[in-house]
Amino acid sequence: MTSSTATLAELGPDDDLFPAWCEVLAASARAARPDEAPRPAAEHVALGRQLVHPGGFRDGTHRAALVGGDVVGALRLLFPLKDNPRMAVVDLAVHPAHRGLGIGRVLHDEALRLCAAAGRTVLISEVDEPADDAPGRGFAERLGWTCDLEETRRDLVLPVDDHRLAAMEADARARSGGYELVTWRDRAPDEFLDDRALLEQRMSSDAPQGDLPVEEERWDGDRVREYEAAHVARGRTVLSAGAVADGRLVAFTDLQVPLSGPVRAHQGGTLVLREHRGHRLGALLKAAVLRELAVAFPEVRRVSTYNAETNTPMVAVNEALGFVSAGRLTSWSRNLG
Ligand SMILES: CC(C)(COP(=O)(O)OP(=O)(O)OC[C@H]1O[C@@H](n2cnc3c(N)ncnc32)[C@H](O)[C@@H]1OP(=O)(O)O)[C@@H](O)C(=O)NCCC(=O)NCCS
Repeated sequence: MTSSTATLAELGPDDDLFPAWCEVLAASARAARPDEAPRPAAEHVALGRQLVHPGGFRDGTHRAALVGGDVVGALRLLFPLKDNPRMAVVDLAVHPAHRGLGIGRVLHDEALRLCAAAGRTVLISEVDEPADDAPGRGFAERLGWTCDLEETRRDLVLPVDDHRLAAMEADARARSGGYELVTWRDRAPDEFLDDRALLEQRMSSDAPQGDLPVEEERWDGDRVREYEAAHVARGRTVLSAGAVADGRLVAFTDLQVPLSGPVRAHQGGTLVLREHRGHRLGALLKAAVLRELAVAFPEVRRVSTYNAETNTPMVAVNEALGFVSAGRLTSWSRNLG
């Protein structure tokens, strides 16, 4: 069989073929990490519905590669609408049983065509690399992409060692006098909404981005609320902690927990504003959400986090908590200009 037998179809999250489209991503994720449950289809459906909903902070489109009526390849393009007007985020996968047949290239050609048509000339994509032989790397190199950012994935097996956590909390408390610790779930308190937006905006420029050609994102309170609602719609709850100084939220951390069969939680963003660094606030906040996770979701067995190795303070906090390496996540770009 050659790629000439593959055809492309546009599809939306409520189309009959969409479950099969989701299954391509799930099979691809299972092939990379057999011991982990892939993202549930409901997450892709919820994201897809947000993309077609007008007025959000991004839109996008889906394509399926079909062979004999079966979906064997999946492409999703995300177009930011509030910033990065030339950028597109590309998600592309081919079912493991149909690889090496040119189907990835067909979807890639389609991605370039659609992006060019939408005026998007800077393409970004991520490759999960549990080990050195991840197919996405060879594919991306072959098709002219450059690797701009390498992040190490680290996993923390739960329950976290209580002794370690208590020692870290004691140290953090001793160094963070003057800051109040606050926690919330899914929805930042109204009084901190604008501060939360600034923190998210800084997250997009202060956290190491390697050579990725990305601009600082534009965030306001409405976008924070949309982002929060998107997590809920995707079947996640988000446990958050923040540090307050003089009535302003100056640091936050988010821990995302999938509600359907919560086994693995994902560390979302963590940021301390520059002028408030050096007080162990990152450690204080991470310890707080881990405590909350243990109480609210004792069934969660693992937390995953991603850090650039150049992000030494964050890596140090994670290693002190007992996180250990679990492969890497690489970010790639390709310029159409
Ligand atoms: C990467 C992936 C999409 C490739 O799909 P595919 O259908 O096997 O790719 P194709 O057969 O169209 O290959 C296209 C080109 O990439 C090359 N390529 C594909 N897989 C490769 C690998 N593992 N190592 C080296 N080169 C590879 C092919 O040799 C081909 O080059 P050629 O046309 O000059 O011979 C597929 O392995 C996959 O879904 N991986 C997991 C998800 C992922 O990493 N997506 C990529 C994000 S950028």
